[in-house]
Amino acid sequence: MKDPKGRTVVGFEKHIFICENLREGEHPRGCCSEKGGAEIRLRFKQEIIEQGLIGKVRANKAGCLDFCEKGPTVVVYPEAIWYRISDPEKDIPDIIREHCKEGKIVERCRIQL
Ligand code: FES
Repeated sequence: MKDPKGRTVVGFEKHIFICENLREGEHPRGCCSEKGGAEIRLRFKQEIIEQGLIGKVRANKAGCLDFCEKGPTVVVYPEAIWYRISDPEKDIPDIIREHCKEGKIVERCRIQL
């Protein structure tokens, strides 16, 4: 049985959730929207295309992931690895290539408490 896209399996090899939560005003926790969440998601989508991973890796918008102070916050499943994107031009290609293609966690981007 295939779906309209020709798939026979439900789901993705890697699923990336990118917080785009917006808090109006001076909220003490801040928000990922004001730290570029939407642009980060678009950059992930672009990188998935450029690295030939359409259909294998999916990047989706998320609401608050509850690690606001550490954001902009991203989590990659199925490993449940949490990343902070501090340098989108370097971090995003590295996460797609190293984590999503090669299965290696990008330690320098991991959220630390
Ligand atoms: S606003 Fe992004 S994790 Fe809460």
